[in-house]
Amino acid sequence: MSRLHATNPSLWVADTSDARYGPLGAGARETADVAVVGAGITGLTAALLLQRGGARVVLLEAGRVCSGVTAYTTGKVSTLHGLTYGTIREKHGLATARAYAEAQRAGFTQVAALVDELDIDCGWERRPNVTYTTDEKTLRKVEREVEVARELGLPASFTTETELPIDVLGAVRFEEQAQFHARRYGLALAEAFVAAGGQIFDEGRVVDVDTSEGRCTVEGGGTVTAEHVVLATHLPFLDRGGLFARAYPHRSYLMAFETGSEALHGMYLGKGSTGWTLRSAEGGRYLLVGGQGHKTGHEPDTPARYDKIERWAQEHFGVGPAAYRWSAHDYTSADDLPFVGKLPLGGGRVWTATGYNKWGMTNGTAAAVAIRDAIEGRPNDWAERFDPARLEVTAAAPTFVKENVDVAVRFVCDRIDHLSGVASEALEPGEGAVAEVDGERVGAYRDEDGGLHAVSLVCTHLGCHVTWNPAERSWDCPCHGSRFDVDGGILHGPATRPLDRKATGGDE
Ligand code: FES
Repeated sequence: MSRLHATNPSLWVADTSDARYGPLGAGARETADVAVVGAGITGLTAALLLQRGGARVVLLEAGRVCSGVTAYTTGKVSTLHGLTYGTIREKHGLATARAYAEAQRAGFTQVAALVDELDIDCGWERRPNVTYTTDEKTLRKVEREVEVARELGLPASFTTETELPIDVLGAVRFEEQAQFHARRYGLALAEAFVAAGGQIFDEGRVVDVDTSEGRCTVEGGGTVTAEHVVLATHLPFLDRGGLFARAYPHRSYLMAFETGSEALHGMYLGKGSTGWTLRSAEGGRYLLVGGQGHKTGHEPDTPARYDKIERWAQEHFGVGPAAYRWSAHDYTSADDLPFVGKLPLGGGRVWTATGYNKWGMTNGTAAAVAIRDAIEGRPNDWAERFDPARLEVTAAAPTFVKENVDVAVRFVCDRIDHLSGVASEALEPGEGAVAEVDGERVGAYRDEDGGLHAVSLVCTHLGCHVTWNPAERSWDCPCHGSRFDVDGGILHGPATRPLDRKATGGDE
């Protein structure tokens, strides 16, 4: 099991095996028409679609295929994204809302087509998707979402009736949406890609892209040179596009509870004061309940987030302790639209996609479709709205400023935390903290066997100070969301180098 799965593997990870393809050799010099970096839903779909268009495609993955964010999703495949259409209509106008709807329709249709064509055993089930509220003040937004969605030709209806054990004031409901096992789906896409002659190299992080040559360098020194490079790494690790400063990282939590029979037929997301996400899974064996999100690196008491979900689920559904618990990592764009297209200053050959605002199944697939269309020169009347170089992002200036001020405040707080580092001897097994080791402030973790692990607190991306995440046992960066394990290994980019390991003063 990879480092990412060491703590809190998702239900999806727990019941599938890692696929192994083997790393790119240190001296390898591969060439391709397209190099795709990142084997989550975006990269896998892009690789397969481009291959089907006749391109020689090489797929590069830092860890194992479909082991990152895609393996930690709720697995909802839907064109209903909370209250997104009303928000986009208000901020950007009808044409952009229509483009967003078209993109989600394209993403949904593509997933459904691949499930059907490849006969993927991924628990694909058509279900209604519902955004509900229990708040008077959010009710108008729910009603507005129905109006806008209908205006866009989406299958929306308003209802006050749900199967939830809470008083719902109003809800927007889309019929014929879907839920599935995203990791089984992703692993099947990889199999299909390889079966058709595609190459996958895993367990090797791409640490640099020469944009003028299209040359991707993998840690260890192997390279793949391609006419086009698709960065499908959640947030592009190349800094020149500045996307890390226009999207902020967000973590949310999900728990799976065993139930005697299917607890819910539909999929649900609460808006307003009740932000729970819910669905049944695995033929009704589990009820998934989640929520409690926060900006990455900004919450010191992450175990409390799980505790709240568990208490709420037990109180409302009479379930026992959770069978699985996991957290997900998402990027929210400053203007509520994803970034999909050519990476600014990427030499005209580097493509990227990020900022899915927690709706990665359709957004990630739509991004793959859009990038395929652009590379192959196919017409696409919705993709240009998501150009990473768009100027409209300035429309979100107030939010953008707030997010960055927030980050800055947190950064200062981190500095203050460092002044009060605990003595490393005081750490209990399983505990991590900013600690004093040999007179230096470091990130320290004591493992279950009593060994001490110490790392630098300085994030290798752009130098912010990482914070301890006790629920996931990781060091998380509050600035752009890089995450590291207790020995400094990278769990999530945009960092491409591990945290420096520190001497532990003989306390191993
Ligand atoms: Fe950018 Fe840490 S992720 S500074």
